Amino acid sequence: MERTFVMVKPDGVKRGLIGAILQRYEQKGLKLVAAKLVNVSRELAEEHYREHFSKPFFNELIEYITSGPVFAMVLEGENAIKLVRLLNGATKVEEALPGTIRGDFATSTTYNLVHASDSPESARREIKLWFPEL
Ligand code: PPS
Repeated sequence: MERTFVMVKPDGVKRGLIGAILQRYEQKGLKLVAAKLVNVSRELAEEHYREHFSKPFFNELIEYITSGPVFAMVLEGENAIKLVRLLNGATKVEEALPGTIRGDFATSTTYNLVHASDSPESARREIKLWFPEL
């Protein structure tokens, strides 16, 4: 069994898509082991996205993720990290295929609805950062 950190970003929460998004993960057999709504501080946002500090879109990303509550969760299942990223779809809006969360709901690359850990190392780091009690 593997655990991964996932969040519905502020646009997903504002658009009332938490239930629809969570349903996709649960339908695929992933188990919700922790979840909470979080008003993300600048400090937490910068720590979470620290590997992208030098990217041109870093400030935009931080502004966006701190613009309203996110729904943070930990999902568990076989190959959970890869499976969730498959269900989420490609980061770039024009590459996200229909049938994926982003392909079906995202309106732009910035407002791409969901985040998920991309490796076992980032899953460990992100779960510790967002859910230190686990
Ligand atoms: S990179 O350059 O390949 O490392 O970037 P990538 O992994 O695709 O994206 C890193 C996170 O930044 C978000 N992103 C953006 N935000 C705002 N504007 C633009 N243009 C943009 N491009 C990428 C992307 O969604 C990633 O965030 P998460 O939360 O991990 O999806």
